[in-house]
Parts: sequence; C-alpha cells; structure tokens
Amino acid sequence: MSDKGSGGNIPRYDRDFLLSPAKRNQVIELWEVEKFGRDSFSDPDAVALYGMRPADWYAKGVRILARTALEAVRDPLGDLIGGAVARVAAGAPQGSAFGVVDCFAGSCNGLYSILRHLPGAEGIGFEVEPAIFEMSTRNIASLGAPIHLAHGDFRTLLGTHRVPAGRRVVAFHAPPWGDALSREAGLDLGRTKPPIAEIVAAFEAVYGSRPILHVVEVHERLVPGPLAALRAGFDWSDLQVFDMAGPTGRHGVLLGTRRWGG
Ligand SMILES: C[S@@+](CC[C@H](N)C(=O)[O-])C[C@H]1O[C@@H](n2cnc3c(N)ncnc32)[C@H](O)[C@@H]1O
Repeated sequence: MSDKGSGGNIPRYDRDFLLSPAKRNQVIELWEVEKFGRDSFSDPDAVALYGMRPADWYAKGVRILARTALEAVRDPLGDLIGGAVARVAAGAPQGSAFGVVDCFAGSCNGLYSILRHLPGAEGIGFEVEPAIFEMSTRNIASLGAPIHLAHGDFRTLLGTHRVPAGRRVVAFHAPPWGDALSREAGLDLGRTKPPIAEIVAAFEAVYGSRPILHVVEVHERLVPGPLAALRAGFDWSDLQVFDMAGPTGRHGVLLGTRRWGG
C-alpha cells in the first residue's frame, strides 16, 4: 500500500495525535495530511485548502503544521462562509469595495475563502503564534494571495493595520473555542478566547464610524444568553447553520451588521 501509515509503528492520525506536544508544531508531509484525512474523515482529500486538494496545494509549496490540519477552516466550510458573506455584501451600495480582517488568521484559509467570494477585496490577518505566522506567511506568498498577515496579538494590531478608508469592513471571528463548547450546552459565545463581544468591541473602537459586517463562526447549538446579547448589539443579524456535519456537529455563521445601510 502507498499509505506509509499501514506500517505497524505508525499511530492513527487523529485529533489527539496531531495536537500532542511532540507533534503539534511539526510541519507534516503530504502522506501524513492524507493519512489524517483517511483516518479521521475516511477521505484522503479532507484537508482541502486554498481551493485545492492536498496533493495540489503541497505541489505548489504550501506546508502546514500538524495542528493546522485540525484548526484550519477547510475549503467546504470556507466556501459556505464565503457564500454567506457574499450574499450580505451584494446588499451594499453598487460599487462598494471591501476589506476583510481576520484577527485569528491561523492558516489564513478562512480569510482566503471569504476573499475568493468578494472579488477585489483585500485581506488583513493577525496571528499571535510565531510558528503559525511564519508558515502562513510563506504559504500566502507562494499562492500570491491578497493578504497582509501581521504577527502579534490582535488587540495591539487592529488599530495599526487598518482597512483603507472607503472600503467596507468585513470582520471574521473564529477565535479558539477552548472549553466554550460543551456537549450539554453547546457553544458559549461569551467563553471563547477571547469572548466574541470583546472582539466586536475592539472593532467598534477602531471602526466606529464605518459600515461593518461581523462574521462569527458558530456551532449548531449555542448558549442562548450570550447569543441574544450579541445580536442585540447589531443593527441586523442572521444565524445560519450549514448542512454539513463536522466531527463535533454542524457549524455555521452568525452575521451581524452595524451602519451597513443599503
Ligand atoms: C481556530 S484558529 C483559526 C483558524 C483559521 N480561521 C484558519 O482558517 O486557519 C485560531 C488562531 O488564532 C490565533 N490566536 C489566538 N489568540 C490570538 C490573538 N489574541 N491574536 C492573534 N491571534 C490569535 C491562534 O494562534 C490560532 O492560530
């Protein structure tokens, strides 16, 4: 068999193995990406990124860390998120231009997916982990993606790396969920790291007079209180759950606008 993982000593490529301390920050080879897809999703092409299956992005020079195979927004979800954003963007005045900001950029594939649905848009990403920042910087350069990725905490970068004046702001929020997702209660948007309301407030402090669309990656089950509080702060909002099952359930987006107009 071509799968190197068929040998006796090679572990099953699942969540626990890829996030283990020894493995998580290692660059993984193509056979490992495909083995993870096969072991965890019964699909060697499960880690589709940047509009390509693994063999194709690998051939273009894209490399990922073990943890990224798990943490990245993979293409099928990214496409659904991008499509949802594009439908809201279509309601903006004709000729509008957009800048997309992702404070938790990781692989940049969530950001890249949204940009693919907004022709002419430019992306700004922030990433605090040096190993991920370096990997993604190389990857977006080899793809020629219209993304400026900055290294550091979004709290210090948001005000200094701004969407140019005249562009509408699209803010994508997929922070680490940590223990905010529980089997019993679902996802608590007040307990992500940081809470979504804190991220929205940081954007208001920088873009308080600009039209802005917030795009929050969510789980199909949400703790009602923090969700309602967040929605109350938007002029318009819409919750969409995508018809695509993931390992922990279906994901979706909460879309919310301020000053978006028509
Ligand atoms: C769930 S992953 C995001 C995955 C991303 N959407 C993608 O498509 O690959 C969250 C990322 O946010 C980064 N991060 C966490 N806290 C941050 C902060 N305060 N500022 C900037 N990046 C942060 C983490 O290092 C991690 O790479």
